[in-house]
Amino acid sequence: MHQPVAKEQEAPSELAAFLAEQEQKSLLRFLTCGSVDDGKSTLIGRLLYDTKLIFEDQLATLESDSRKHGTTGEDIDFALLVDGLEAEREQGITIDVAYRFFATSNRKFIVADTPGHEQYTRNMATGASTADLAVVLVDARQGVLRQTRRHTFIASLLGIRHIVLAVNKIDLVDHSQEVFERIVADYTAFAKDLGFATLVPIPMSARYGDNVTMRSDNLPWYRGATLLEHLETVELDAEMGEKPFRFPVQYVSRPNLNFRGFAGTVASGSIAAGDEIVVAKSGKASRVKRIVTGDGDLTRAAAGQAVTIVLEDEVDVSRGNMLVTPDARPHVADQFMANIVWFDENAMIPGRSYILRTETDQANATVTELKHRVDVNTFSQEAAKHLELNEVGLCNLSTQSPIAFDNYGENRVTGAFVLIDRLTNSTVGAGMIVHPLRRASNVHWQALDVDKKVRADLKHQKPAVLWFTGLSGSGKSTIANLLEKKLHAEGRHTYILDGDNVRHGLNRDLGFTDDDRVENIRRVGEVAKLMVDAGLIVLVSFISPFRAERRMARELMEEGEFIEVFVDTPFEECAKRDPKGLYAKALKGEIKNFTGVDSPYEVPERADIHLETGGRSAEEMADTLAAWLRERGYC
Ligand code: ADX
Repeated sequence: MHQPVAKEQEAPSELAAFLAEQEQKSLLRFLTCGSVDDGKSTLIGRLLYDTKLIFEDQLATLESDSRKHGTTGEDIDFALLVDGLEAEREQGITIDVAYRFFATSNRKFIVADTPGHEQYTRNMATGASTADLAVVLVDARQGVLRQTRRHTFIASLLGIRHIVLAVNKIDLVDHSQEVFERIVADYTAFAKDLGFATLVPIPMSARYGDNVTMRSDNLPWYRGATLLEHLETVELDAEMGEKPFRFPVQYVSRPNLNFRGFAGTVASGSIAAGDEIVVAKSGKASRVKRIVTGDGDLTRAAAGQAVTIVLEDEVDVSRGNMLVTPDARPHVADQFMANIVWFDENAMIPGRSYILRTETDQANATVTELKHRVDVNTFSQEAAKHLELNEVGLCNLSTQSPIAFDNYGENRVTGAFVLIDRLTNSTVGAGMIVHPLRRASNVHWQALDVDKKVRADLKHQKPAVLWFTGLSGSGKSTIANLLEKKLHAEGRHTYILDGDNVRHGLNRDLGFTDDDRVENIRRVGEVAKLMVDAGLIVLVSFISPFRAERRMARELMEEGEFIEVFVDTPFEECAKRDPKGLYAKALKGEIKNFTGVDSPYEVPERADIHLETGGRSAEEMADTLAAWLRERGYC
């Protein structure tokens, strides 16, 4: 049992009083965004400095650093205060999100300092997802740029409701009211339709402090609030605590046989001991028995608190599931529509498999349809095949197993996800769910009585896919053909799926762009899966140049059913053989996107069988494969 901590008996210290006072204040989360050199870091540094939140020793370091790295002569370079990383000082750009905490007598603040470099949209998307307000910086000399529009648009997608348009470096345009007003007009013209609750323009000079925390004699024409005054008073929307209760389960805590609790952070709403809950994915109901923390049990826990919840009954809940209020349940679905912000060099391709991660859950996912891409300059919707770096689009997604979520518009924690590249493990996109797709939940997998095992038993074989990958002309089809003849002669039930042939029928609408190749392999993977289910030994002969799709095809099958055969013939040899005369054309530029010429082939890293074809006959290699299958009991 946890003992309650005897806080009441301690003499109330100054610190406790200070903390109690802080508790009462409202919290504003904001972020700054803008282009490189717009002065974001300087602005935050100035805010911290002027609100006296820098300690003496930090100040001393800052002064000496300013002399070393600074770009402001003998003055203090406030950017150094927030640009924590050596690397970025040297490059002069901010490269990661840094969160700062500060407080005034009226309010507490958390500021996410997000990078302005074009390729760092990612950091903005991650920094902004919990923010109430965005300070969009514009250099008075430059005006509204493409990035200003992009960041503003992403801010609106991320559900930020309040914007401060900080027209910075106003000193460099002679404190001109005209310049300010022109920028404000430009900005409001495009931002007016984005649904912000407030949009407050402020002329300022972060470097000299004008209108950051103090009014400025240099700007007598401006009568509005300073940035800090505005931040202190802007009215905030309903807190997460007032939304329906959501508790995404981080892990199941089972220290001994007598204790089983679900650990996590309350995402929204609140919960008290005795309250009824349901498990989102199964709909099973129970009641909260205890709310356990390191400091003893609580009677109530609210949004933001990390706790372990113990239920009255033994219900099945694992990581990624959610405990929720029975009155307002989240969606549980495996298909939904979402806005996606893409921030990887490799384009988002519909049909490719990614890992989708929500607050605590994870599932394989593909974009089944890119409905449109948004032009960040005009906000018009354009048709597109894929999303490139920094692009934003509306997509339908499908996950391998259902996830529990809310629409992002209703809950920014449980409505958000990121997409992760399966090979590099890096975060490549951020998503905001618009709504579930109804059609998905109405199609259920039909359980059939005659199953794969029964079908395969009748044929006395273990169904599998031999997936031949390699360059065009490497010998895939020749070897597959010989192998099929052997297997057939032994009475095996087989089928060959060959790229050239399938592209005449099922896939005749597809060409050779990356997108089309991804779809080509996705379809043939699904067909091969059905054939395996029918009990066949399937020989797939497709270039299948991308690791991601070969892996996707592997994951469609069960363990041991997918055998990757790398037909390894060097490019020079394939080009010399050139059985269809395609290499000659491609090398002359007459065929575009030809594998090995101007379209990549990603060599398998761990093929199950690596056939180095040099000096070996196709017949011999087909024998090798037949023996391999026999030894492992496939036939
Ligand atoms: S894949 O890359 O999408 O897997 P697939 O195996 O279906 O390719 O088709 C490859 C065959 O299409 C080649 O063997 C070749 O005969 C023909 N082909 C025509 N144009 C191209 C091209 N640009 N790149 C590769 N193969 C091409």
